[in-house]
Amino acid sequence: MPTSIDVFAKVRGHEREEQLRAAREADVLPYFRTVESPAMPVVEMEGHPRIMLASNNYLGLTGDERVMQGARDALARYGTGLTGSRLMNGTTPLHLELESELAEWMGTEDAIVFTTGHQANMGALGTLLDVGDTVIVDSGDHASILDGVLLSRAKMRPFRHNRMDKLERALERAQEDGGGVLVVVDGVFSMEGDVAPLVDIVELCARHGARLMVDEAHGAGVLGARGAGASELLGVEERVDLRMGTFSKSFASCGGFLAGEAEVIEYLRISSRAFLFTASAVPAALGAALAALRILRSAEGPQLLAAALENATYLAEGLQAIGYRVLSGEPVRMSPAEGAPVESIRTPIVPVMVGDDWRAALLWRALYDGGVFTNCALHPAVPPGGALLRTSVMATHDRPTLDRALEVFARVKREFEAEHGPLPGADAG
Ligand SMILES: Cc1ncc(COP(=O)(O)O)c(C=O)c1O
Repeated sequence: MPTSIDVFAKVRGHEREEQLRAAREADVLPYFRTVESPAMPVVEMEGHPRIMLASNNYLGLTGDERVMQGARDALARYGTGLTGSRLMNGTTPLHLELESELAEWMGTEDAIVFTTGHQANMGALGTLLDVGDTVIVDSGDHASILDGVLLSRAKMRPFRHNRMDKLERALERAQEDGGGVLVVVDGVFSMEGDVAPLVDIVELCARHGARLMVDEAHGAGVLGARGAGASELLGVEERVDLRMGTFSKSFASCGGFLAGEAEVIEYLRISSRAFLFTASAVPAALGAALAALRILRSAEGPQLLAAALENATYLAEGLQAIGYRVLSGEPVRMSPAEGAPVESIRTPIVPVMVGDDWRAALLWRALYDGGVFTNCALHPAVPPGGALLRTSVMATHDRPTLDRALEVFARVKREFEAEHGPLPGADAG
């Protein structure tokens, strides 16, 4: 007898349907808005110029002539696509050059390039972990880490975001699980922009014999003197076993990579399904990423890194002065030599706390109408009741543009609070 259950039934009447319908009706849906120009400090969106405070283009390189030329040269030399996986017919000299320069820059023995960052996480975790192993993840880790963990079928032990007492407990419990143990954390957490206390994490991992992988998607091309990420900034690069990065943020392109010991990378090259059974990235993406990496490694790199962080501080202080509550991470130890946590690290991600989902969508819309595009982060991207507007800056935002954005934020706050009541205040930290 044919089954009476339609697997597609779940697409109707799901929990988000009502919310989406209401948001569409009120025209406050913050998602899938169309951008009609390159991801520059000011973009064209739905027929109007808007100040872009919602991009991960931290170094502002997506429109850089040298990066665009890198993409054009790769396109001219290798064509529009490679139509095959790296294993079969998708490896070019460009891949090899990129992998070798990535390893040199990260200071690791080797590096491997994936088609996306999501696949890099899936490829690493789904391959290195096995049934019987334990993986310990921060509750704020990126979805691609969780996807890789699910694929691996290893035992997952999550711990409360950045809580070292909980990580320690999970490590103790994991010792009793009987398999290998891997801890995976984001170096910079993508929504709140806070940094993992990696100095404490490497010490805990060493004490419990666990391996450590750090996702540097928002750290690479952002933090550290070389821009190699949170691991570099906090002086623990040598003690992190595997580092992941993506080209979809500071590298102004698309793709992902893993950097680590040669034998681990080689194992992934021959065993990782997310690497072997998907087509290589298009040559233009690789050419752009390599050009961006070379800019980052040139004398200009440190200037771009500094400009992005200075802009973030300027925007955060400006928003606080207007009365918004801007989140900043907990203080962390800045090096293995430091005793107590000393500094809260500013990243280009400047999150504005709202709290309630609906109010966040209304505030987002008012800013959008005022000509400022932000990202609206609702549960499950953030904890329940932790809705926020995620703003982010580029090295190439100039001060007049940020000042204009702050003027819009100030006017919108006055109008919003007159109609909907107070937003969380700056003084509450
Ligand atoms: C922390 C983190 N890890 C991994 C990824 C996945 O990277 P990609 O966009 O290259 O697939 C992202 C990007 O969304 C991210 O924010």
